[in-house]
Amino acid sequence: MARILLGVTGGIAAYKSVELARLAIKAGHSVRVVQTPSSARFVGAATFEGITGAPVLSDEFEPDPARGAFPGDPAPDHAPISHLELVRRADAYAIVPASANTIAKLANGLADNLLTSAALASPAPLLIAPAMNDRMWRHPATQANVETLRLRGATIVPPGEGMLASKGEWGEGRLAEPATILAAIEGAIAAPTLAGVKLLVTAGGTREPIDSVRYVGNRSSGRMGFAVAEEAARRGAEVTVVAANVSLPRTHAVRYVDVETAAELDAATTEAFEDADVLIMAAAVADFRPAAPEASKISKTGRDGLALELEPTADVLAGVAAQRRPGQVLVGFAAEHGAGAVERARGKLERKRIDAVVVNDISRGDIGFDTDANEVTIVTAAGEEPVPFGPKAQVAGAILDVVESLRAAADIKTA
Ligand code: CTP
Repeated sequence: MARILLGVTGGIAAYKSVELARLAIKAGHSVRVVQTPSSARFVGAATFEGITGAPVLSDEFEPDPARGAFPGDPAPDHAPISHLELVRRADAYAIVPASANTIAKLANGLADNLLTSAALASPAPLLIAPAMNDRMWRHPATQANVETLRLRGATIVPPGEGMLASKGEWGEGRLAEPATILAAIEGAIAAPTLAGVKLLVTAGGTREPIDSVRYVGNRSSGRMGFAVAEEAARRGAEVTVVAANVSLPRTHAVRYVDVETAAELDAATTEAFEDADVLIMAAAVADFRPAAPEASKISKTGRDGLALELEPTADVLAGVAAQRRPGQVLVGFAAEHGAGAVERARGKLERKRIDAVVVNDISRGDIGFDTDANEVTIVTAAGEEPVPFGPKAQVAGAILDVVESLRAAADIKTA
């Protein structure tokens, strides 16, 4: 049973938060509701009060008859500042539906009504389920605000595609289903499954200098590694990312070490690995580098061609695997082309002496390098787990589920 504070903003989808409150109560949770003044134009306080059995607040200066208590709690004998007491007691603060306006306020830390003030004062996990017109949802301002909140640790339950409120319009912006939102709230409240675990992730692609301005590189953006790092931080892990040339937004919940070359990545990873419980090697590390990079810029004048001699780099993953302590879990990635990918990945698992290999089929253009989605197979000694096509955040979750089961199978206890 959890105490869920439900923040309702102005939008037609507000009626669906009534259903969410009902489902949450049916599941044994106790719910209090705060509303923005404009949400009351869509669903009145009496409806939420009837469902939750508790007073609804929408004004910061309005005394709370329940004194901040959730249904089932004894009411305190003093009259606390209502919104501070509500968030102090809440196990999760879910804003459903979240309008573009409220999302913008939350991203910027505004506190101009009870709902937004409560969000600023809340130590509880924040969950945001946006609902709006598809053009408002796709607007770069809204997308940037949602990204800001996500990087700050909020769980975003993305809107689905479907019929929108305005007649005849179809698009992305429709509130997620109440059951989906409730599952996300319960997930956000659940005990952090990687608490106390030191997790090291490598991400991005290395660049090997040819001369002072040119390099040999690859198309890895770092999205997959960053998604794993963010999800691991959400699960309570202490996360370090060794980032090779990644220009994606960063979260405060993760420590980043920036590197450029395979040699720098090797040094940073080997050092951080000593103290790590888990290594997830998502970086695309160069296998070869120019043998003799020029210190200055190579000029084309007087040349009719240029041959580049490459020498092998060290295999970082195999190197750290050779020094692993009992209990350290190692996950590699394999970018494989077409048929036989899983068999080749199994070969890597054994050759590199690691616990899992995440296989990407790079013959497909819609997944893998520099895209937002992925579809992988996770190969372990126990078998193969196909992870269906989905956003990289979802694939990151599946990878970490495997890490958690590998740790459980090895009965690893983290202090
Ligand atoms: N890797 C590494 N150091 C390198 C190259 C790769 O640690 N110099 C890691 C990658 O981060 C990845 C895994 O090894 O997690 C698999 O890399 P890949 O290049 O696919 O495997 P190889 O064994 O090099 O096989 P091949 O290039 O022949 O496919």
